[in-house]
Amino acid sequence: MSTAICPGSFDPVTYGHIDIIKRASKIFDKVIVAVLVNVAKDPWFTIEERKELLRKSVGDIPNIEIAGFDGLLVDFAAKYNADVIVKGLRAVSDFEYEFQMALTNNKLNSEIETVFLTTSAENMYLSSSIVKQVGILGGDISPFVPKCVQDEIIQRIRQRRN
Ligand code: PNS
Repeated sequence: MSTAICPGSFDPVTYGHIDIIKRASKIFDKVIVAVLVNVAKDPWFTIEERKELLRKSVGDIPNIEIAGFDGLLVDFAAKYNADVIVKGLRAVSDFEYEFQMALTNNKLNSEIETVFLTTSAENMYLSSSIVKQVGILGGDISPFVPKCVQDEIIQRIRQRRN
C-alpha cells in the first residue's frame, strides 16, 4: 500500500491546496495531509484550527487523513510509514525553495522521496498569504477559498483590527 504525505502550513487551506490533495488522493492508496510548522512563517491559525478547516474542505475524500505535527516532516513520515512526500509546484519561483526542502528531507531520511505535482493553471498564482492580503485590504476572497475558510479569514481580520 502506498502512503503519501501532503505537508504544508495550510494557514489556511486554499483551492490550490485542495486541488493538489484531491489529485494526490487519486494516485496514492492513502494520503495524509500534514499540518506542520514552517518556522519562517507567523501563522494566523493554530494547528488545530487549520486541521479543522482542512476537515471541512477535504474531509469527505475517503482515503485521506488529516494530522498535525510540530516536529520534522521526515519524523512524521516515519511515524505514519509514508515513503512519499507530495508537494505542489506553482511556478519557477517555488522551485529553489522546494528543491532545497526535498534534498534536505532526503538527506535526513533517504527512504523518503519527494514527488511534485504541477498546480492547475487557475491556481498558479494562489497562496494563503496572498488570500490573507486580499482579505485585509477588503477584496473578495471567495474565488480562492471555500466558504468556511472565507468566514474564518474575515473573522480573524476583524479580531486583528480590534
Ligand atoms: O506550506 P509551506 O509553508 O510551504 O510548507 C512548508 C513545510 C511546513 C512543509 C515545511 O516548513 C516543513 O516541512 N516543516 C516541518 C519541519 C521540517 O521538517 N523542516 C525541515 C524541512 S526542510
